[in-house]
Amino acid sequence: MKSANSVYLKDDREVRQPIWQTSIIGSGPKFQHAVDLTNAVAPSDVSVLLLGESGTGKEKFAEAIHLKSPRANKPFVRINCASLPPTLIESELFGHEKGVFTGAYERKTGKFERAQQGTIFLDEIGELPLMMQSKLLHVLQEKQIERIGGNASIPIDTRVIAATNRNLEKDVAEGTFRKDLFYRLNIFPITLPPLRDRKEDIRQLADYFLSMYNARFRKNIKGIAPEALMQLENHHWPGNIREMQHLFERAVLLCPTHTIHRFIEFDVADEAEKVAETKVKSLTEMERDHIVATLRRCKGKISGKDGAAELLDINPSTLVSRLKKLGISQVSVWKNDPISANDSYY
Ligand SMILES: Nc1ncnc2c1ncn2[C@@H]1O[C@H](COP(=O)(O)OP(=O)(O)OP(=O)(O)O)[C@@H](O)[C@H]1O
Ligand SMILES: [Mg+2]
Repeated sequence: MKSANSVYLKDDREVRQPIWQTSIIGSGPKFQHAVDLTNAVAPSDVSVLLLGESGTGKEKFAEAIHLKSPRANKPFVRINCASLPPTLIESELFGHEKGVFTGAYERKTGKFERAQQGTIFLDEIGELPLMMQSKLLHVLQEKQIERIGGNASIPIDTRVIAATNRNLEKDVAEGTFRKDLFYRLNIFPITLPPLRDRKEDIRQLADYFLSMYNARFRKNIKGIAPEALMQLENHHWPGNIREMQHLFERAVLLCPTHTIHRFIEFDVADEAEKVAETKVKSLTEMERDHIVATLRRCKGKISGKDGAAELLDINPSTLVSRLKKLGISQVSVWKNDPISANDSYY
């Protein structure tokens, strides 16, 4: 079932890789802006940088850009820059000649060569080691590669789409990402909004995933009860659309009736989130708690043998000024025993 408002970047016609789902669901203004940019850039050869949190659809958009481009019938080749050790990335990207290192039993063509006339998708580009960043920049500028151990330059005709969930500008400022490569990739950035910022799309996505998993599992779940819909709308979605997709996969599979009444996963997850939130204390709070606990242990004694200052290994006058700064009074130390709280510390 397709919702009437759904945005499709292209028809659901068969593509060479049938596992690709090309329908892109969403119509809220923030999402629509990303779709408009995608539609504008797709038919050109311009490099695109897809930005956004994990699970927001960067890979899906990369595929859509390729499929909407004149390169659609040529290969779309993806490389995950985070999943390979630095020593292997170069050979994966550019290939190697036979015998150039131990284990190189035959010549290997790299991803750039395999993406000739098509598109290369450099996923998780922010994780590329610095040494490889300069080699990649060189290739993007010169539009030619050399296989490891080879001495011929091979011209490449490949469109580049890169993606990251990192803040590359921050990485540039911290010196972990090359500024020149950043500018080379950042020609046409598209930022995909997190799901919590596009709650208006949740119903549409719910319809989409419901029909997807009904078909896949041969089920016939007809809808979602208002309470369950409210759960979807109130959730923070740290894993974005991927999290929602997995939620529906489980819910459709396990739902015993024709309606999903409640997503039980949220009851557990939201509880864990609450515990995590209450657990984090600031350093000042930690210091305050520690000083109060020590004072209690020393029965309120600050200086001298077995006093709090000695235990904390600081000067008694420094401890008194910390007490003042942190607003620790006799009353706060002895709040469960106000009779002891008859002196002032400062
Ligand atoms: N707008 C959308 N409509 C329908 N399905 C979507 C949409 N966006 C993403 N998805 C689905 O959500 C899942 C996650 O998307 P994708 O892998 O593209 O995210 P990502 O941004 O690349 O995540 P990561 O940073 O973790 O690699 C995929 O199964 C994808 O098909
Ligand atoms: Mg991805």
